[in-house]
Amino acid sequence: MTFSDAEKAAIVSIWGKISGNVSTLGGEALERLFLSFPQTKTYFSHFDLSHGSADLQRHGGKVLGALGEAAKHLDNLDGALDKISDLHAYNLRVDPGNFQLLSHCILVVLASHFPNEFDATVHAAWDKFIHAVSGVLTSKYR
Ligand code: HEM
Repeated sequence: MTFSDAEKAAIVSIWGKISGNVSTLGGEALERLFLSFPQTKTYFSHFDLSHGSADLQRHGGKVLGALGEAAKHLDNLDGALDKISDLHAYNLRVDPGNFQLLSHCILVVLASHFPNEFDATVHAAWDKFIHAVSGVLTSKYR
């Protein structure tokens, strides 16, 4: 998947707003995921999923941190995400449908925290970006 210069600019600019706050924003995305789609909790039975927990924040930080790495390598998402692609496909075996659910929750977090910046163009660019990341993370299933 390729990104236009305008899409790249939109992705990088929102990443700049997220980057200092990955644990809080990522934790909120996970909390929304588990509340709206409780079936996703099955992968996290070893976590404390209570509101604002350290587990939610730490893992949310990892998820958004991975998106930040991806945002720096928009021309080579396969390479940038290779290790976590292996992890999700071979070790975690997360059902691919769950990626759409998490992607939705991340977009809702961005829209609610950055209402002025998250216009239709930025929304479309981030939707494409998260879809591309999810595509890499589910590309090795067989
Ligand atoms: C672990 C990123 C989607 C379940 C991780 C890690 C990262 C990550 C960076 C930590 C890897 C490490 O510790 O080396 C992402 C990204 C996603 C995504 C960027 C999509 C945008 C999902 C989905 C699920 C999931 C949809 C299931 C609903 C897990 C689980 C772990 C994990 C269970 C291991 C947690 C632990 O025990 O510490 N993910 N992930 N991931 N992910 Fe994902």
